[in-house]
Amino acid sequence: MANISGSSRRRPYAGAVLLLAALTTTGAAYAVTTSAIVSPKSAAASAEQIELGKRLFTEGCSSCHGLAGQGGSSGPSLIGVGAAAVDFQVGTGRMPMAQADTQAMRKPPVYNQEQIDALAAYVASFGAGPGVPDPSQYDFSNANVARGGEIYRLNCSQCHNYAGKGGALSDGKYAPSVMKATPKQIYEAMITGPQGMPVFSDAQIPAKDKQDIIAYIDYLQNAPDPGGAALGRLGPVTETVFMFTAAIGAVIAVTIWIGAKSR
Ligand code: HEC
Ligand code: HEC
Repeated sequence: MANISGSSRRRPYAGAVLLLAALTTTGAAYAVTTSAIVSPKSAAASAEQIELGKRLFTEGCSSCHGLAGQGGSSGPSLIGVGAAAVDFQVGTGRMPMAQADTQAMRKPPVYNQEQIDALAAYVASFGAGPGVPDPSQYDFSNANVARGGEIYRLNCSQCHNYAGKGGALSDGKYAPSVMKATPKQIYEAMITGPQGMPVFSDAQIPAKDKQDIIAYIDYLQNAPDPGGAALGRLGPVTETVFMFTAAIGAVIAVTIWIGAKSR
């Protein structure tokens, strides 16, 4: 005790130095984390790209999201949603939303990829968020389909159904079919958590596991339907049992999710 107070009396600035060091470390760590989630693309976004993005955004998006993406009565704030959210929402045709609705639907995209990249770069300039994934991140050529199926059944099937065909959620909302999503869009859905879908961080589902899931969904998309046993691809006998279990599971999952959201 005496020793500690003695030494702090001799070095009155020790506390301040320590605090400064702590702040610097935190600052540095924060800078590293934020720079890690900004896509290399948005970091390298050219002035012309941002300019094009700004023009497209003002024309097609600002009526709902505000001129500076701050949000309004018809659309949420886009500050910090990141380039990945824009690439997903506009790439799946969900945005621009045609009219105020409970949920934006997948439809043919209105913009081409160059315009989407520009919109994404512009929205990313509002505030850091997840960047558009690099092709190596959603490459599933070395992924494990069977393992992907396990992870999918654990994390995704309660909303999207065992066979990826989608299903109803509460409040007239629904989880869509994943049968049309590209590997990039599947990856983006996981890192951005569109609407009622949770975000699956790398802490919850590591990058490798995300690739396994993508491989499994790709398998679902390409596997031929075995006759009448399409549901869950589990065979006619087990179907009913699984439908029942899935329904109970979905109810529990949605209850937990609503509980978590309202906190
Ligand atoms: C008619 C209004 C409307 C227009 C126009 C519109 N949006 Fe949206 N947008 C919404 C609403 C409402 C939501 C939230 C509901 C949802 O996600 O289904 C949303 C959600 C989003 C999200 C997801 C935000 C998040 O938190 O992940 C992005 C990104 C987005 N919009 C981008 C755009 C872009 C880019 C455009 C222009 C090309 C656009 N929107 C045009 C109404 C609109
Ligand atoms: C709590 C329910 C829920 C869970 C769990 C969930 N999702 Fe979703 N998912 C949704 C909803 C709701 C949407 C639609 C969002 C919208 O319309 O903006 C969606 C959209 C998607 C889409 C876009 C589909 C398309 O083509 O338009 C993909 C892909 C997807 N989810 C994959 C996954 C994967 C993979 C998992 C598991 C790691 C998962 N989801 C877990 C609810 C969920």
